[in-house]
Amino acid sequence: MKVWTRDVLREFVRTKLDGFRFIVVSNREPFEHKRVGRRVECSQPASGMASALDPVMRACGGLWIAHGSGDADRQAVDQYDRVAVPPEAPEYTLRRVWLSKDEIEGHYSGLSNQAIWPLCHVAFTRPVFDPAHWRMYRRVNERFAEAVLEEAGNEPTFVFIQDYHFALLPRMLRNARSNLVIAQFWHIPWPNRQVFSSFPWQEEILDGLLGNDLLGFHLPQHCQNFIDTAGALEARVDQAASEVCRGGHSTFVRPFPISIDFDEHSAVAESEAVAAHMRRWREELSLSGKLLGIGIDRLDYTKGIPERLRFLDRFLEMHPGYRGKLVFVQVAVPSRSALPAYREIDKEVDLLAAKINRRWRTPFWKPVILLKRHFPAVEMIALHRLAHFCVVASLHDGMNLVAKEFVASRTDGEGVLILSKFTGASTELKDALQINPFSIEDGADAFDLALNMHPDDRKRRMHKMRETVEENNVYRWAVKFLSALADIEFPEYAGERPAALQVAV
Ligand code: G6P
Repeated sequence: MKVWTRDVLREFVRTKLDGFRFIVVSNREPFEHKRVGRRVECSQPASGMASALDPVMRACGGLWIAHGSGDADRQAVDQYDRVAVPPEAPEYTLRRVWLSKDEIEGHYSGLSNQAIWPLCHVAFTRPVFDPAHWRMYRRVNERFAEAVLEEAGNEPTFVFIQDYHFALLPRMLRNARSNLVIAQFWHIPWPNRQVFSSFPWQEEILDGLLGNDLLGFHLPQHCQNFIDTAGALEARVDQAASEVCRGGHSTFVRPFPISIDFDEHSAVAESEAVAAHMRRWREELSLSGKLLGIGIDRLDYTKGIPERLRFLDRFLEMHPGYRGKLVFVQVAVPSRSALPAYREIDKEVDLLAAKINRRWRTPFWKPVILLKRHFPAVEMIALHRLAHFCVVASLHDGMNLVAKEFVASRTDGEGVLILSKFTGASTELKDALQINPFSIEDGADAFDLALNMHPDDRKRRMHKMRETVEENNVYRWAVKFLSALADIEFPEYAGERPAALQVAV
């Protein structure tokens, strides 16, 4: 019997969090309503965070508060800005918060994505620290605090905050209502203390995060970095307990590597819909008689997209036998395109793909096919299943769920994963071909190894990776996270707090 399933999580929440409101907060919403011609379509945005949390919410129910970013979002909500999702068979409630253009520019494009994102991903993109962005970041955190407090009322409530857009929110909530149970998961890396010390509002952000009862990162290294950084504050740090105490309140810092719904993903991978998309891709991309390598990423400078195109270029230079045979499909989902660094990477990828194609193309073949748009999951899974190898070349990545999705799609036990050693996923997926994405030779050699791996070795590696992802799925992540609250003392809830907060699992 499987240990970690949706039902296990559902039962856990039903019995242990009984009597508590469950509120998730994130910037990116799990469902977005958009105008397509005259119709309104509802789709799931490209976000590792949102795709990991959605199955958890489907199991737990509750309320998810997020920025309403779709151009038809207002049409879909009721008078309380709420909409039941998923639209076809609702399982939880989404409450949308509306942000002005200035708020989005300062909070999302500014402080979150031009300061914290590059600061935490050590990918050599310089952070921008603008006081106006910082003020807007604070204001948007306040706006979300108001929404959470309105929804929580005076009921016992557990608030589960997602990611780096809301570092000030936990403290704001704690100051407003000291008996809220507050936890946060930081989906991106946390850099070392010295790197973080360049952040001009270091003290405020640390103080904000120390409003949490529990703060989760993917890896022990990120926890350690955070604890070291917090040591710069007037706070008592207990290294052994992984606990930071400030102003009489303790925050426990723990690693929880996030994952996917492996069973659901594998089932979809075997569906007729995916088979139909495989036939279509084969035809559209003229894959007959060809070898296929793939990459699927948001168009982000942390993902190492130019790097992997350079691997391909070098590989074709070293191995002429693959010219005319190997097709590399890069899906690059447009992302944060209002920001200069994202426009630059977009241009760089275009130019590089064109240059490589000019260099190697023949009348009936070109090595790079660049698809710059968002595709529904079934179409991506179809690509996974057609690929001889998948490349995840991130320069730095908290986890990277594309790697886990590729593995879950390969119910046939085939396919090779080439994986950057700077992803969180590399600590679990030891049977991937691990590379240093900064080394072109390393990457080009991995292409060679992937295409020439003995079938027994290939199957053995995929089998082991599938076992790992199957066991360490997103339900395990959620139960472990919620269970960790069990070790925490909540004097405010003495006698009436939910069992999960009393009994360790
Ligand atoms: C990363 C972040 C998420 C974010 C996603 C997509 O995975 O950890 O919080 O949602 O990127 O980025 P976007 O800016 O489109 O939300």
